[in-house]
Amino acid sequence: MDHKDLQPRDSFTSKFGMIAATAGSAIGLGNIWRFPYIAGENGGGAFLVVYLLFVLGIGIPVMMSEFVIGRRTQRNPYGAFKKLAPGKPWFLIGFMGVGAAFMILIFYNTVAGWTLEYIYQSVTNAFEGKTSEELTTMFDGFREGSIRPLLWMVVFMALTAWIVLAGVQKGIEKYTKILMPILLALIIILDIRALTLPGGSEGLSFLFKPDFSKINGKTVLEALGQAFFSLSIGMGTLITYGSYIRRKENLANTALSVSLADTFVAILAGVAIFPAVFAFGIDPASEEGLVFIVLPKIFQQMPGGYIFSFMFFILLAVAALTSTISILEVVVAYFVEELKMVRKKATILAAVSISAVGIFAAASWGWASDLTLFGSNIFQLTNFATVNILLPVGGFFIVIFIGWFLKARITGDELSNSGSIKVRYLPTFMFIVKFIAPIAIALVFLYKLGIFGN
Ligand code: TRP
Repeated sequence: MDHKDLQPRDSFTSKFGMIAATAGSAIGLGNIWRFPYIAGENGGGAFLVVYLLFVLGIGIPVMMSEFVIGRRTQRNPYGAFKKLAPGKPWFLIGFMGVGAAFMILIFYNTVAGWTLEYIYQSVTNAFEGKTSEELTTMFDGFREGSIRPLLWMVVFMALTAWIVLAGVQKGIEKYTKILMPILLALIIILDIRALTLPGGSEGLSFLFKPDFSKINGKTVLEALGQAFFSLSIGMGTLITYGSYIRRKENLANTALSVSLADTFVAILAGVAIFPAVFAFGIDPASEEGLVFIVLPKIFQQMPGGYIFSFMFFILLAVAALTSTISILEVVVAYFVEELKMVRKKATILAAVSISAVGIFAAASWGWASDLTLFGSNIFQLTNFATVNILLPVGGFFIVIFIGWFLKARITGDELSNSGSIKVRYLPTFMFIVKFIAPIAIALVFLYKLGIFGN
């Protein structure tokens, strides 16, 4: 047995470090790359309203539930369910989480690799003077290439593995604490520039004026999936992080702060992107390429845009990194604690096997573009299936577990730190996890399947 197994478990060493690491997991490409194009494709303002409802009514309770399970058991998701429900099939949720982590990294690393390419393009000043069409051609050309997207993906995976190898405190806390606030500042500057573009106000109305006729089964499912994805919930990342949270921290407050910060960043990203989309006449249906086309266009219009774009893409890559480490950690913790592997071997094995499949996702617009199902390539399939299916299904079972299986006394004990903080919200919380959240998730699926209305 590895000697590390005998040492006390790692934990976050300060409150700020803990929030920063958890927010670092939540805030990533989901907010800055995925939220804008998904919101754009699904009706803008109406999507935002549904999204916010899901964050508040389902997301925060699921996040609290994951923290409860993780901190109570001090285990990875799979081991956590085995410990709380011995001999029962609940461990399958943990198992599904490990699988979801694997699948998310397959497409996530591809996009993270794109951010590295765009750091490089910033340095060589490649955006200068390009029209929107030219920037689109540039992005498409890169993504269709057979080497570069793959190479960057592998580089990114290696970076992630390297940090995960350094362990929890030294690896994760140290970097996020400094860099996330800088990213936030840069996004706010981008917002100011975007808001002062001529013709930008149309973009704001698009994001903030809901047109509810745009809502259908697909948009509602996309909003639910995006809420889960952006908050890092539904697959046990936050069970794992919960296991590193110290006994004296307030789990509900942590969930609330992290969720609000995450939502705030997504909205700020939207406020930068949509005014620019309208001001520059960029095709809002640019899908996965949207922010990689719009952002360079904004940088062009800024004094010091060269330095700015360089810094921005570096920090975006860092934001992606603090997310990928939290996802890889789920797979590694499972290998170490359940399969009794040494941490180093576990990390390398996970990174290599994810990259091996990830190569096909990275080549989804290149040589693997013929590998499609229902008209979607491998990247799009893993993206859709994990975000819109695996995460909400995982979340469904997590709230059912807390609401119906785990003794309410245990949940109350964790949320109140053994009675030392008041939890007047507890009955409401229990009502949500028992009824509201699982029923809402089930209804979203039924609605999407067209079982009622549409
Ligand atoms: N939330 C992260 C983002 O927005 C991605 C992420 C990290 C994630 N850990 C996760 C998504 C766990 C789902 C589950 O970029």
